[in-house]
Amino acid sequence: MSNVFNWQLGREMDFGAIHGAILQAFIRRLHGSSGLRTRQVPRNSYNSLIGQIRSSNPIAVCEDQMKRTLFAVLLITTLFFTFACERRGDVANGAGTGPIVVGYYGDLSGRTSSFGQSTKNGVAMAADEINKAGGINGRQIQILTEDDQGEPNKAATVVTKLINQDKVIALLGEVASSNTLAAAPKAQEAKVPMISPSSTNATVTQVGDYIFRVCFIDPFQGEVMAKFSANNLKAKRAAILYDFNSDYSRGLYQVFKKSFTDLGGQIVSEQSYTQGDRDFSGQLTAIRAANPDVIYVPGYYGEVGVISNQTKQLGIKAPLLGGDGWDAPQLWQLGGASLNGNYISNHYSVDDPSPAIQKFVADFKGRYGVQPDALAALGYDAMKVLADAIKRAGTTENTKLRDAIAQTKDFPGVTGKITIDKNRNAVKPAVVLKLQDGRFVYATTISPEGSTPVASSAASPAGAASPAQ
Ligand code: PHE
Repeated sequence: MSNVFNWQLGREMDFGAIHGAILQAFIRRLHGSSGLRTRQVPRNSYNSLIGQIRSSNPIAVCEDQMKRTLFAVLLITTLFFTFACERRGDVANGAGTGPIVVGYYGDLSGRTSSFGQSTKNGVAMAADEINKAGGINGRQIQILTEDDQGEPNKAATVVTKLINQDKVIALLGEVASSNTLAAAPKAQEAKVPMISPSSTNATVTQVGDYIFRVCFIDPFQGEVMAKFSANNLKAKRAAILYDFNSDYSRGLYQVFKKSFTDLGGQIVSEQSYTQGDRDFSGQLTAIRAANPDVIYVPGYYGEVGVISNQTKQLGIKAPLLGGDGWDAPQLWQLGGASLNGNYISNHYSVDDPSPAIQKFVADFKGRYGVQPDALAALGYDAMKVLADAIKRAGTTENTKLRDAIAQTKDFPGVTGKITIDKNRNAVKPAVVLKLQDGRFVYATTISPEGSTPVASSAASPAGAASPAQ
């Protein structure tokens, strides 16, 4: 008999003893000393004695019914506590046999809902593939989803719920860095591993040793665009228009400014806005007056689409440059043809002819009817990296799972090979994409300093596409 079983048996016996005492006390209260009398009847004669007096004694009949009701109530509470303890036990010792419960949280209805929905689809597709292939060590994955409406305080609330109420063994999310930064301390305090698929702000994983990501970070992404501007577009003068309240946007603004200046360029105008703004003419008029070669706009699609339109309305010819935050089908609905000729840095390209990427693109299109953007690809990769770690750990126990995620090495993701470094970030190349007629067309790949440059395999290098390094 295993220790666990002995322990459970002991616990059930304890429950039995407690219930017995409650029952006795209840009977004593009802009938004065009659409870005491009942207790004094020897066990073997108890049933026959009850049988004899039941028909003649109305108090005993009442007592009997009361006992039955009480027994049912106590049985239900015992079962409830037993299962509740089992669930906590599962999290604590990782030796469960039921579904592996993973929490996903994202913006499913707010200003950045394209991010949350797309990531959710990627996560779900990965989980389904894993489940169809037999699950992880024989267990199926179950994803519990929460909508944080794209608000940091709600992200913290839903993550707390997923941890305390749903007892998830790990968390996937968020996309927008400010939301992940608000939720991550909850996961860290509870020591529940969290993998952000796509939050790139440098400080996200600094929250603690349970917080990971499967994407590159903004000190790299900002530098990629600074290098692309200086080396490929030969820009000397850059303007910056960033979202003041977004950790992501502020981080990229700072990195771009430093990198572009280090490369010999000049920042000729620095302007800001906040999420939800719809009129950027003041900022753009100031930028036009500064006569930049490029305008860096590290924002999210909802504002960027409008900014792009207004830039053209003001007769500004300089291309806009951005980051992964532009990546959403809605960008085209908002910005239309005004977006042509702009560039972004991103995590992968659907044009990449590698068979693994093309299979992923075809499967996703077959399932959802749309091309997978970088969010979907990173959601897919985050789920697969988590599953791989659970498999290697052989358990969902939190410390062992955390260690296994930290040891992820050369995992073949659709967004590139994923190796988690000592700061719990993935070190990966970025692609630069050119915006053309409703499409993000591959331009070039830029690898992090010190890593082996990837042999770029993309099909249709476009525009100014000589390697930037
Ligand atoms: N990197 C962005 C952030 O940290 C989120 C994002 C990732 C948006 C990928 C689009 C695509 O806020």
